[in-house]
Amino acid sequence: MPDPTTLSDFEAAARALRDAATSAFAAASSADALELARTEFLGRANGRINELQRLVPSFTGDDRRIAGRAFNDTKNALESALAERRDALASAARTAAPSVDLTMPARRQYVGAEHPVTRVVEEIVAIFRELGFTVAAGPEAETEWYNFTALNFPEDHPALDAHDTMYLAPGVVLRTHTSPVQIRSMQAGPPPIRVVIPGNVYRLDPFDASHAPMFAQIEGLAVDEGISFVDLKATLAHFANRFFGPTRTRFRPSYFPFTEPSAEMDIECRLCHGSGCPACKGTGWMEILGSGMVHPNVLEAAGVDSERYTGWAFGMGPARIALQRYGIPDIRLLYDSDVRVLEQLAR
Ligand code: PHE
Repeated sequence: MPDPTTLSDFEAAARALRDAATSAFAAASSADALELARTEFLGRANGRINELQRLVPSFTGDDRRIAGRAFNDTKNALESALAERRDALASAARTAAPSVDLTMPARRQYVGAEHPVTRVVEEIVAIFRELGFTVAAGPEAETEWYNFTALNFPEDHPALDAHDTMYLAPGVVLRTHTSPVQIRSMQAGPPPIRVVIPGNVYRLDPFDASHAPMFAQIEGLAVDEGISFVDLKATLAHFANRFFGPTRTRFRPSYFPFTEPSAEMDIECRLCHGSGCPACKGTGWMEILGSGMVHPNVLEAAGVDSERYTGWAFGMGPARIALQRYGIPDIRLLYDSDVRVLEQLAR
């Protein structure tokens, strides 16, 4: 830069420097190029801005003040042009290389399914709904009275042993079956009563291929005037045909403290259709549920007049039914947290 001798030469030199720097910054297409331009114009030791600064003291009086201000304005203009370009380059870099890698393969979608026990329970409930039954529920923490006493268990029944039943406190158990909700349903209002009661129950069983310490049950109860064993048989045989498809059924005498008489219902083995195979242990039949006519002591314990009303009840295990329906070899697969089982069933 030739040494300006007049203020207007100085101002022209300042303008020229500003134009040169601004277009150099604008032309820088990378952070590295911009850094080079910055050094050229604003570099501490050799930046061209220093040449301009060195001229200021050659003026005197008002002229020096004006030259000083012109120098400051120029330096500020260069610095803000530099900052502006730096921002522009940075935001261009962000857009060009987003931090999300869109070429990365997506995580495989988890495909779940309704749990087989839930599915079986809902189908059973739907069939009984068609017959006018409603759904009831009761607590899982239950008193000994509802779980045993009101259901006509004698005081010394082995089920009351802490060996078989989980006690939460004296007189309070985790219910061992859904039958206590029979009592609660009868207490809730006078007959006619037609309810199904799905829910989980607890027993101190070993956790093995065919036992779980917690499992699902579904209870049924019908109480009205003139109900007989014919209603029990006809309703449960109808249920079996609806749920399993056309099938023969048989009723075998059994025993429960809360029903008299009691019967277990079997259906024809799904695999061998009655001829006998390993799945049915050669019998040709598969046990599906326990049932019976509600014992008069149970009606009375629940406040129902046993001279006027009769009823029948059943209880079955949806987990067992799910195992044989879906060919699941081990009940633990239904009651642990490995959801890959559900993934298979979804297919
Ligand atoms: N509560 C019985 C059980 O857990 C099943 C059952 C219910 C039997 C209702 C008869 C009537 O084995």
